[in-house]
Amino acid sequence: MICADIDEEKVDRLCRGEVPIVEHGLERLVVEGLASGKLRFVLGAATASKDSEFHYLCVPTPQGQDGSADLSYLQAAASEIAPVLPTRSVVVNKSTVPVGSTEVVGRVLGRSDVSVVSNPEFLREGTAVADFLTPDRVVIGSSDQEAAIRVAGLYTKVRAPIMVTDPISAETIKYAANAFLASKLSFINAVANLCEAVGADINDVVLGMGYDHRIGKEFLHPGPCWGGSCFPKDTLALARIAEDAGYDFSFLREVLRVNDEQFDRTAQKVIDALGDDVKGKRVGVWGLTFKAGIDDLRQSPSLEVISRLIAAGIEVHGYDPAVKGPISEVPALNVCSDPYAAVKEAEVLVVLTEWDEFRWLDLDQVSTQMAGRAVVDARNILDGHALRRRGFSYRGAGR
Ligand code: UDX
Repeated sequence: MICADIDEEKVDRLCRGEVPIVEHGLERLVVEGLASGKLRFVLGAATASKDSEFHYLCVPTPQGQDGSADLSYLQAAASEIAPVLPTRSVVVNKSTVPVGSTEVVGRVLGRSDVSVVSNPEFLREGTAVADFLTPDRVVIGSSDQEAAIRVAGLYTKVRAPIMVTDPISAETIKYAANAFLASKLSFINAVANLCEAVGADINDVVLGMGYDHRIGKEFLHPGPCWGGSCFPKDTLALARIAEDAGYDFSFLREVLRVNDEQFDRTAQKVIDALGDDVKGKRVGVWGLTFKAGIDDLRQSPSLEVISRLIAAGIEVHGYDPAVKGPISEVPALNVCSDPYAAVKEAEVLVVLTEWDEFRWLDLDQVSTQMAGRAVVDARNILDGHALRRRGFSYRGAGR
């Protein structure tokens, strides 16, 4: 396998077996692949494609100005490889692209002797290796059955259903899956808000709901709501795709609105815990990444909440096991190198990302460091009873 990138420094590091992101199990695979000679990294897509049978496009499709996906990276990669593609080879699109993009790639390539196949990925950051090796399904979309079957042949060692469909359906599956999961999260956060209003406990509600196999237990943890490099942009892009196709997918706008409102609600809990005049008061935050186990800050709910606190005049100190400051999106945030330093002199401790290590920190040391006695635990991971025993007020999510 030959992997190409346009970033020379990244390619150099990968050639040395250094993975530039936090991704469990990936470095070991890269090191093994390099040592066995089965894996190589090169600069430029044309170098990787000139003698290959399959060409996977895995480029970013960031959010454009109007909410639609920006296809310029995809088009650039397709233009670059078009002249060097061997006859009968297959270009496989892995990037999340608007419905109809498989056809766009075909047009950019302008090669009638080369097939284009859509093969969306469903990997989660942090568990991408495991998700790839044991997927729930493999989706392949192409109008060329023979090419689709050849791509399916690459997955024979993977024990998962392989589904072959047309390219438009394959592209829709990817967006609909992400938007559905985002909707599930907006729904459960709205239920958590209801629990707070009526006095129910979201943990028990989720357990009781999750036993119903039609609902399932996954993706029902409430929090400051959802973020990351995919859900926000893909949910917005799907609403845009629907609009362009003449369907008003107003349901998705509500899903996005609930998410945004949840950031406000979480920030408001902190403001309430601080009391009347919040200006200049100090808050310590644990967790900055958009979820635990990664070093990605893109569209992080934590940074959304922190921005709102800073806008209210609050001084915020934050700690995350995978982040070293400063952070350009929130330059006023003071990034600390350990969790106890982040809560030093703080009136309120706020937990915004569910890193496991936060569960095991020394609450007595936290108590000694802090100036105030309030905890807002937006991920429900701390022991509320243990905190209350130490004189803290404790507010979780939905309980
Ligand atoms: C997502 C999809 O899960 C994956 O299938 C797709 O390929 C890419 O987008 P990812 O962005 O890595 O993966 O993150 P994910 O684990 O889905 O979490 C997204 C957001 O939802 C995070 O902010 C996370 O904290 C939040 N989340 C997730 C919850 O708040 N509660 C949950 O129960 C699950």
